[in-house]
Amino acid sequence: MSQRRKFIKQSLMGSAFLIPGLEAVSRPIPSKETFSKPLILSTWNHGLSANEAAIHTLKSGGSILDAVEVGVKDTELDMDNLSVGLQGLPDREGITTLDASIMTGDGSCGSVAFVRQIKHPISLARAVMEKTPHVMLAGEGARQFAIAEGFPLEKEELSPKAAEAYNEWKKTSQYKPIINIENHDTIGMIGMDAEGNLAGSCTTSGLAYKMHGRVGDSPIIGAGLYVDNEVGAATATGLGESIIRICGAFLIVELMRQGRSPREACQEAVRRLISKNKNIKDIQAGFLAMNKEGEVGAFAVHPGFNYAQATLQKNVLIDSKSHF
Ligand code: GLY
Repeated sequence: MSQRRKFIKQSLMGSAFLIPGLEAVSRPIPSKETFSKPLILSTWNHGLSANEAAIHTLKSGGSILDAVEVGVKDTELDMDNLSVGLQGLPDREGITTLDASIMTGDGSCGSVAFVRQIKHPISLARAVMEKTPHVMLAGEGARQFAIAEGFPLEKEELSPKAAEAYNEWKKTSQYKPIINIENHDTIGMIGMDAEGNLAGSCTTSGLAYKMHGRVGDSPIIGAGLYVDNEVGAATATGLGESIIRICGAFLIVELMRQGRSPREACQEAVRRLISKNKNIKDIQAGFLAMNKEGEVGAFAVHPGFNYAQATLQKNVLIDSKSHF
Protein backbone atom coordinates (compact mmCIF):
# COMPACT_ATOMS: atom_id res chain seq x y z
CA MET A 1 0.00 0.00 0.00
CA SER A 2 1.38 3.46 -0.89
CA GLN A 3 2.24 5.81 1.98
CA ARG A 4 -0.53 8.18 0.84
CA ARG A 5 -3.17 5.49 0.71
CA LYS A 6 -1.96 4.15 4.05
CA PHE A 7 -2.23 7.63 5.58
CA ILE A 8 -5.75 8.18 4.25
CA LYS A 9 -6.81 4.78 5.55
CA GLN A 10 -5.30 5.53 8.94
CA SER A 11 -6.99 8.95 9.01
CA LEU A 12 -10.32 7.30 8.40
CA MET A 13 -9.62 4.67 11.06
CA GLY A 14 -8.61 7.09 13.74
CA SER A 15 -6.72 10.28 14.44
CA ALA A 16 -3.41 10.41 12.60
CA PHE A 17 -0.30 12.49 13.01
CA LEU A 18 1.91 13.10 10.00
CA ILE A 19 5.34 14.03 11.25
CA PRO A 20 7.46 15.50 8.44
CA GLY A 21 9.94 12.94 7.25
CA LEU A 22 8.35 10.12 9.20
CA GLU A 23 5.65 7.65 8.37
CA ALA A 24 2.19 8.54 9.56
CA VAL A 25 1.35 7.02 12.90
CA SER A 26 -2.14 6.43 14.02
CA ARG A 27 -3.74 5.96 17.38
CA PRO A 28 -7.03 4.20 17.84
CA ILE A 29 -10.11 6.30 18.40
CA PRO A 30 -10.59 6.21 22.18
CA SER A 31 -13.62 4.07 22.89
CA LYS A 32 -16.53 5.91 24.40
CA GLU A 33 -17.20 4.98 27.99
CA THR A 34 -20.92 4.95 28.51
CA PHE A 35 -22.80 4.13 31.68
CA SER A 36 -26.03 2.25 32.09
CA LYS A 37 -29.30 4.09 32.64
CA PRO A 38 -30.59 5.32 34.97
CA LEU A 39 -27.60 7.50 35.68
CA ILE A 40 -27.28 10.24 38.31
CA LEU A 41 -24.39 12.71 38.73
CA SER A 42 -23.90 15.25 41.49
CA THR A 43 -21.23 17.77 42.35
CA TRP A 44 -18.90 17.25 45.31
CA ASN A 45 -18.83 14.55 47.96
CA HIS A 46 -22.20 15.58 49.38
CA GLY A 47 -23.43 14.18 46.05
CA LEU A 48 -22.95 10.60 47.28
CA SER A 49 -25.79 10.81 49.75
CA ALA A 50 -27.89 12.91 47.35
CA ASN A 51 -27.41 10.30 44.63
CA GLU A 52 -28.56 7.56 47.02
CA ALA A 53 -31.77 9.48 47.62
CA ALA A 54 -32.26 10.06 43.89
CA ILE A 55 -31.69 6.39 42.98
CA HIS A 56 -34.02 5.31 45.78
CA THR A 57 -36.69 7.63 44.37
CA LEU A 58 -36.35 6.08 40.91
CA LYS A 59 -36.45 2.55 42.34
CA SER A 60 -39.64 3.49 44.18
CA GLY A 61 -41.30 4.51 40.93
CA GLY A 62 -40.59 8.24 40.97
CA SER A 63 -39.84 10.18 37.81
CA ILE A 64 -36.42 11.57 36.95
CA LEU A 65 -37.78 15.00 37.97
CA ASP A 66 -38.79 13.58 41.37
CA ALA A 67 -35.34 12.01 41.66
CA VAL A 68 -33.36 15.21 41.10
CA GLU A 69 -35.63 17.11 43.49
CA VAL A 70 -35.50 14.50 46.28
CA GLY A 71 -31.76 14.02 45.74
CA VAL A 72 -30.76 17.60 46.43
CA LYS A 73 -33.33 17.98 49.23
CA ASP A 74 -31.07 15.56 51.09
CA THR A 75 -28.23 18.10 50.87
CA GLU A 76 -30.55 21.01 51.73
CA LEU A 77 -31.10 19.30 55.10
CA ASP A 78 -27.47 18.38 55.79
CA MET A 79 -26.49 20.33 58.91
CA ASP A 80 -22.78 19.75 58.22
CA ASN A 81 -23.03 21.46 54.86
CA LEU A 82 -22.29 25.17 54.98
CA SER A 83 -22.96 25.89 51.31
CA VAL A 84 -26.47 24.57 50.72
CA GLY A 85 -29.76 25.16 52.57
CA LEU A 86 -30.67 27.34 55.51
CA GLN A 87 -27.66 26.09 57.51
CA GLY A 88 -25.39 27.58 54.84
CA LEU A 89 -23.07 30.50 55.52
CA PRO A 90 -24.88 33.86 55.48
CA ASP A 91 -24.26 37.03 53.52
CA ARG A 92 -22.20 39.83 55.06
CA GLU A 93 -25.28 41.14 56.92
CA GLY A 94 -25.63 37.75 58.60
CA ILE A 95 -28.69 36.71 56.56
CA THR A 96 -28.86 33.37 54.75
CA THR A 97 -30.38 33.65 51.28
CA LEU A 98 -30.89 30.75 48.91
CA ASP A 99 -30.90 30.15 45.15
CA ALA A 100 -32.19 27.07 43.31
CA SER A 101 -33.24 25.86 39.88
CA ILE A 102 -34.77 22.76 38.32
CA MET A 103 -35.18 21.73 34.69
CA THR A 104 -36.40 18.84 32.57
CA GLY A 105 -35.24 17.81 29.13
CA ASP A 106 -38.36 19.15 27.38
CA GLY A 107 -37.42 22.73 28.28
CA SER A 108 -39.61 23.09 31.38
CA CYS A 109 -37.78 24.99 34.11
CA GLY A 110 -38.26 26.98 37.29
CA SER A 111 -36.06 28.82 39.73
CA VAL A 112 -35.95 30.95 42.84
CA ALA A 113 -33.32 33.49 43.82
CA PHE A 114 -32.47 35.49 46.93
CA VAL A 115 -35.12 33.64 48.92
CA ARG A 116 -35.22 33.51 52.73
CA GLN A 117 -36.70 31.17 55.34
CA ILE A 118 -37.50 28.31 52.96
CA LYS A 119 -36.09 24.92 53.91
CA HIS A 120 -36.38 23.44 50.43
CA PRO A 121 -35.80 26.08 47.76
CA ILE A 122 -35.56 23.30 45.15
CA SER A 123 -39.20 22.39 45.80
CA LEU A 124 -40.15 26.05 45.53
CA ALA A 125 -38.32 26.20 42.18
CA ARG A 126 -40.33 23.17 41.06
CA ALA A 127 -43.54 24.89 42.16
CA VAL A 128 -42.58 27.96 40.10
CA MET A 129 -42.08 25.64 37.11
CA GLU A 130 -45.30 23.72 37.55
CA LYS A 131 -47.71 26.27 38.99
CA THR A 132 -46.84 29.64 37.48
CA PRO A 133 -46.45 30.95 33.94
CA HIS A 134 -42.98 32.18 34.95
CA VAL A 135 -39.48 30.72 35.13
CA MET A 136 -37.99 32.68 38.02
CA LEU A 137 -39.24 34.34 41.20
CA ALA A 138 -36.92 36.31 43.48
CA GLY A 139 -36.75 37.69 47.00
CA GLU A 140 -39.93 38.73 48.73
CA GLY A 141 -42.05 37.69 45.74
CA ALA A 142 -40.67 34.17 45.93
CA ARG A 143 -41.38 34.11 49.66
CA GLN A 144 -44.97 35.31 49.15
CA PHE A 145 -45.46 32.60 46.54
CA ALA A 146 -44.05 30.03 48.98
CA ILE A 147 -46.53 31.12 51.66
CA ALA A 148 -49.41 30.91 49.17
CA GLU A 149 -48.29 27.39 48.24
CA GLY A 150 -48.18 26.28 51.86
CA PHE A 151 -44.41 26.14 52.33
CA PRO A 152 -43.65 26.65 56.04
CA LEU A 153 -41.49 29.68 56.86
CA GLU A 154 -38.51 28.72 59.01
CA LYS A 155 -37.18 30.88 61.85
CA GLU A 156 -34.46 33.17 60.59
CA GLU A 157 -31.47 32.15 62.69
CA LEU A 158 -28.04 30.85 61.80
CA SER A 159 -27.13 27.24 62.50
CA PRO A 160 -24.53 26.88 65.28
CA LYS A 161 -21.76 26.12 62.76
CA ALA A 162 -22.71 29.01 60.48
CA ALA A 163 -22.97 31.40 63.45
CA GLU A 164 -19.51 30.40 64.65
CA ALA A 165 -18.01 30.87 61.19
CA TYR A 166 -19.79 34.20 60.67
CA ASN A 167 -18.63 35.55 64.03
CA GLU A 168 -15.07 34.58 63.14
CA TRP A 169 -15.39 36.24 59.71
CA LYS A 170 -16.73 39.44 61.30
CA LYS A 171 -13.44 39.92 63.13
CA THR A 172 -11.88 41.02 59.84
CA SER A 173 -14.93 41.22 57.53
CA GLN A 174 -12.61 40.60 54.64
CA TYR A 175 -14.68 40.46 51.47
CA LYS A 176 -12.72 38.11 49.30
CA PRO A 177 -14.82 35.69 47.36
CA ILE A 178 -12.80 32.49 47.13
CA ILE A 179 -14.32 29.10 46.58
CA ASN A 180 -12.01 26.18 46.98
CA ILE A 181 -12.10 22.69 48.28
CA GLU A 182 -12.41 23.80 51.90
CA ASN A 183 -15.24 26.18 51.06
CA HIS A 184 -16.87 24.31 48.22
CA ASP A 185 -20.32 25.21 47.23
CA THR A 186 -23.56 24.15 45.68
CA ILE A 187 -25.06 20.85 44.76
CA GLY A 188 -25.81 20.44 41.08
CA MET A 189 -27.44 17.15 40.08
CA ILE A 190 -28.17 15.87 36.58
CA GLY A 191 -29.88 12.59 35.81
CA MET A 192 -31.27 10.34 33.12
CA ASP A 193 -33.97 7.72 33.59
CA ALA A 194 -34.09 4.28 31.98
CA GLU A 195 -35.91 5.73 28.95
CA GLY A 196 -33.33 8.47 28.39
CA ASN A 197 -35.34 11.39 29.82
CA LEU A 198 -33.15 13.99 31.47
CA ALA A 199 -33.62 16.37 34.40
CA GLY A 200 -31.42 18.48 36.62
CA SER A 201 -31.45 20.49 39.84
CA CYS A 202 -29.12 22.97 41.48
CA THR A 203 -29.35 24.52 44.95
CA THR A 204 -27.09 26.68 47.09
CA SER A 205 -26.81 29.24 49.84
CA GLY A 206 -24.36 30.96 47.52
CA LEU A 207 -21.11 32.64 48.15
CA ALA A 208 -20.25 33.02 51.82
CA TYR A 209 -20.44 36.62 53.10
CA LYS A 210 -21.70 37.90 49.75
CA MET A 211 -23.30 41.34 49.42
CA HIS A 212 -26.96 41.30 50.44
CA GLY A 213 -28.98 40.71 47.29
CA ARG A 214 -26.20 38.94 45.39
CA VAL A 215 -27.43 36.07 43.21
CA GLY A 216 -25.10 33.46 41.74
CA ASP A 217 -25.27 31.09 38.78
CA SER A 218 -27.33 28.35 40.42
CA PRO A 219 -30.83 29.78 39.80
CA ILE A 220 -29.96 31.08 36.34
CA ILE A 221 -31.09 28.63 33.69
CA GLY A 222 -28.18 28.17 31.30
CA ALA A 223 -25.54 29.23 33.83
CA GLY A 224 -25.75 26.78 36.75
CA LEU A 225 -27.98 24.24 35.00
CA TYR A 226 -29.15 23.29 31.54
CA VAL A 227 -30.91 20.17 30.30
CA ASP A 228 -32.02 19.16 26.81
CA ASN A 229 -33.38 15.70 25.98
CA GLU A 230 -31.95 15.99 22.46
CA VAL A 231 -28.38 16.35 23.71
CA GLY A 232 -27.62 15.99 27.42
CA ALA A 233 -27.34 17.97 30.63
CA ALA A 234 -24.78 20.09 32.45
CA THR A 235 -24.43 21.73 35.84
CA ALA A 236 -21.88 24.03 37.43
CA THR A 237 -20.31 24.73 40.78
CA GLY A 238 -17.92 27.41 41.95
CA LEU A 239 -17.81 31.17 41.75
CA GLY A 240 -21.16 32.06 40.20
CA GLU A 241 -20.03 35.31 38.63
CA SER A 242 -17.40 33.51 36.57
CA ILE A 243 -19.95 30.92 35.41
CA ILE A 244 -22.65 33.46 34.52
CA ARG A 245 -20.16 35.33 32.29
CA ILE A 246 -19.89 32.34 29.97
CA CYS A 247 -23.44 30.88 30.29
CA GLY A 248 -21.56 27.79 31.47
CA ALA A 249 -24.15 25.00 31.49
CA PHE A 250 -25.82 26.12 28.25
CA LEU A 251 -22.43 26.43 26.59
CA ILE A 252 -21.57 22.84 27.50
CA VAL A 253 -24.86 21.46 26.19
CA GLU A 254 -24.41 23.38 22.94
CA LEU A 255 -20.83 22.11 22.57
CA MET A 256 -22.10 18.56 23.07
CA ARG A 257 -24.76 19.23 20.43
CA GLN A 258 -21.92 20.07 18.06
CA GLY A 259 -20.26 16.72 18.75
CA ARG A 260 -17.95 17.32 21.71
CA SER A 261 -17.90 14.67 24.41
CA PRO A 262 -19.07 15.78 27.89
CA ARG A 263 -15.45 15.94 29.06
CA GLU A 264 -14.32 17.97 26.02
CA ALA A 265 -17.27 20.33 26.42
CA CYS A 266 -16.53 20.89 30.14
CA GLN A 267 -12.85 21.48 29.36
CA GLU A 268 -13.72 24.04 26.68
CA ALA A 269 -16.07 25.81 29.13
CA VAL A 270 -13.19 26.05 31.62
CA ARG A 271 -10.92 27.43 28.90
CA ARG A 272 -13.57 30.03 28.03
CA LEU A 273 -14.09 30.88 31.71
CA ILE A 274 -10.38 31.41 32.21
CA SER A 275 -10.26 33.71 29.19
CA LYS A 276 -13.15 35.85 30.48
CA ASN A 277 -12.21 36.19 34.14
CA LYS A 278 -9.38 38.07 35.78
CA ASN A 279 -7.62 36.84 38.93
CA ILE A 280 -8.14 33.25 37.88
CA LYS A 281 -5.83 32.01 40.61
CA ASP A 282 -8.55 33.05 43.11
CA ILE A 283 -11.44 31.49 41.21
CA GLN A 284 -12.58 27.90 41.41
CA ALA A 285 -15.32 26.62 39.14
CA GLY A 286 -16.18 23.13 37.99
CA PHE A 287 -18.52 21.67 35.41
CA LEU A 288 -20.24 18.29 35.23
CA ALA A 289 -22.06 16.91 32.20
CA MET A 290 -23.62 13.83 30.63
CA ASN A 291 -24.85 13.22 27.14
CA LYS A 292 -27.88 11.19 26.18
CA GLU A 293 -25.68 8.19 25.31
CA GLY A 294 -24.63 7.99 28.96
CA GLU A 295 -21.13 9.43 28.56
CA VAL A 296 -19.95 11.50 31.54
CA GLY A 297 -17.43 14.31 31.81
CA ALA A 298 -16.18 16.93 34.25
CA PHE A 299 -13.52 19.62 34.34
CA ALA A 300 -12.50 22.31 36.81
CA VAL A 301 -10.26 25.37 36.94
CA HIS A 302 -8.20 24.13 39.90
CA PRO A 303 -7.67 20.68 41.42
CA GLY A 304 -10.03 19.60 44.19
CA PHE A 305 -13.35 19.32 42.40
CA ASN A 306 -15.03 15.93 42.56
CA TYR A 307 -18.39 14.46 41.71
CA ALA A 308 -20.54 11.50 42.62
CA GLN A 309 -21.73 9.13 39.94
CA ALA A 310 -24.51 6.61 40.54
CA THR A 311 -26.10 3.83 38.54
CA LEU A 312 -28.42 1.18 39.96
CA GLN A 313 -25.30 -0.86 40.74
CA LYS A 314 -22.90 1.60 42.35
CA ASN A 315 -22.38 5.12 43.62
CA VAL A 316 -18.80 6.39 43.51
CA LEU A 317 -16.86 9.60 44.05
CA ILE A 318 -14.61 10.63 41.16
CA ASP A 319 -11.91 13.30 41.06
CA SER A 320 -12.27 15.74 38.19
CA LYS A 321 -9.34 16.79 36.02
CA SER A 322 -8.50 20.48 36.11
CA HIS A 323 -6.80 23.15 34.04
CA PHE A 324 -4.11 23.97 36.60
N1 GLY B 1 -22.15 28.57 42.50
C1 GLY B 1 -22.91 29.15 43.51
C2 GLY B 1 -22.77 30.57 43.66
O1 GLY B 1 -21.83 31.18 43.19
O2 GLY B 1 -23.63 31.15 44.28
